[in-house]
Amino acid sequence: MDCQAFIDQQVGEIKEAVGGGVAINALSGGVDSSVVTVLGYRALGENLRTFFIDDALMREGEPERVVQRFADVGIHVGLVDARAEFLGALKGLTDPEQKRQAVTDTFYSVVFARLVGETGARFLLHGTILTDIEETVAGIKRQHNILAQVGIDTEEAYGYGVLEPLKTLRKDGVREVARALGLPAEVSERIPFPGPGLATRIVGEVNEERLDTVRKATTIVEEELADSGAFQYMAVLLNDYATGIRDGEREFGQIIVLRCIDSVDARTATAVRLPWEKLEAICERITRIPGVNRCLYDLTPKPPATIEYV
Ligand code: XMP
Repeated sequence: MDCQAFIDQQVGEIKEAVGGGVAINALSGGVDSSVVTVLGYRALGENLRTFFIDDALMREGEPERVVQRFADVGIHVGLVDARAEFLGALKGLTDPEQKRQAVTDTFYSVVFARLVGETGARFLLHGTILTDIEETVAGIKRQHNILAQVGIDTEEAYGYGVLEPLKTLRKDGVREVARALGLPAEVSERIPFPGPGLATRIVGEVNEERLDTVRKATTIVEEELADSGAFQYMAVLLNDYATGIRDGEREFGQIIVLRCIDSVDARTATAVRLPWEKLEAICERITRIPGVNRCLYDLTPKPPATIEYV
């Protein structure tokens, strides 16, 4: 791919679509939304309003880290605290598609609609990539960010248009563009983290307590596997309990799954053959999280599994 030509073309198209108006975008800090932020900023300058939406589904320290990283390169990111709205929408839901729908609705109908109203924007710039579109259209999973491709007219439904500058690229292509834009390796090589965040890693109800458990496990897994070179690694909280022993007492505890996969573009994946010592070290740390007494390693390739659990 000729990255420079791609960048020039997308910057041109954003400029043309938005004209002298205002556009908004949501930055999660991942490679897709970071690339969109830089393309949008190059096209629109201060007429791009970038927000980090704290949806309660993020990793430890993520909001502050992302806002600071972009402040360092001169791009102001507004922090929006929408935790209560997302937790309220997810309350009591256990069905995976209903959970995804709740996250989508809260993003688009509640939070983005409010931001559009406040900024006067007519467009939302979006980090949708080709794999998201293909899997949603194939009916495998409703990715949170797929709208037009499933027949939703965003102008009509939410009152703003959506621009998707990355929709012809897969993850590997987005990383190439990120490098060409001069984004640091911690962004361009960042492992994928899904839009609905930790909600895709909690089987069963998503609530503050369960988020806290999976967030602690995520921190451990990301620390331990940072040097693994794997495509993606994560911790998942199951909705089952198992008998264990803690401090000499029987405990009916929670179960965390460790997943670490190799992949090129997330369409297929295989489990990484991690060293046994590494697995033991992770297991030891994870089972020190209060209420967790088992840690399992997932060997399943995609297909038949997907990468995330929800
Ligand atoms: P799955 O679980 O579908 O994941 O095998 C494929 C890749 O996509 C990421 N993923 C998402 N990314 N919104 C996103 O932005 C989503 O709703 C979503 N669901 C999964 C997942 O982390 C993996 O890299």
